[in-house]
Amino acid sequence: MTTHTQLVLKISDRVQKLFASEEGSHDWWHIHRVWSLALKIADQEKANLEIVSLGALLHDIADHKYHNGDITVGPKKAETMLREEGADETCIRKVVDIVNEVTFKGAAVETPVTSIEAACVQDADRLDAIGAIGIARAFAYGGSNNRLLHDPNTTFRQHASFDEYKNDKGATTHHFYEKLLLIKDRMQTQTGKSLALHRHEVMVNYLEQFFAEWEGSR
Ligand code: ADP
Ligand code: NI
Repeated sequence: MTTHTQLVLKISDRVQKLFASEEGSHDWWHIHRVWSLALKIADQEKANLEIVSLGALLHDIADHKYHNGDITVGPKKAETMLREEGADETCIRKVVDIVNEVTFKGAAVETPVTSIEAACVQDADRLDAIGAIGIARAFAYGGSNNRLLHDPNTTFRQHASFDEYKNDKGATTHHFYEKLLLIKDRMQTQTGKSLALHRHEVMVNYLEQFFAEWEGSR
């Protein structure tokens, strides 16, 4: 049972209001699940719970996908909000680093973390992108961006740069090979790694059935 600080409660209140009308792949409940999962990991990894909470709450505050690919908007917004709510400079710096380090930037692009708190938030965010919820989020994102469910005439790419990754407009099934199936091997913490295994299996089984149905064979 975690007791939240006043600062965490104030930030969660503001974030919840800001995310109230976002679509399902990226709404308040995504933030809420990442927050809970990050705290569960943080507890095992002995990380600072206030910093982890603030990082989880603010990690998607201005997603590059909704800001013309600009990855600097999120950290700046997080900094402003924390300062407005009276956070001290050390706390602000640690949380802004987390917001900077969380984003997935493509299959072949490394995204190292510089603190155990960032590791907890990055793992929690990635866990919510895989498994049953990850599948639901991928198709929700694809639907709201007019992507095909699947396109047998094109193949997926393992992007070598963030620019290539974020400009890809391929079918939603591609996203599994560009990102979702790679996640289990990119977990930062032992707790995250063990949670990722079952979620990974769920996706592998789902895709096997999806392609069997696509071919009409099952
Ligand atoms: P996260 O919150 O894990 O950082 P993103 O903000 O990158 O994830 O994306 C939000 C959700 O939309 C995630 O579940 C992600 O897998 C999904 N998504 C992102 N890009 C695509 C895409 N090209 N096709 C399908 N789903 C996508
Ligand atoms: Ni996220």
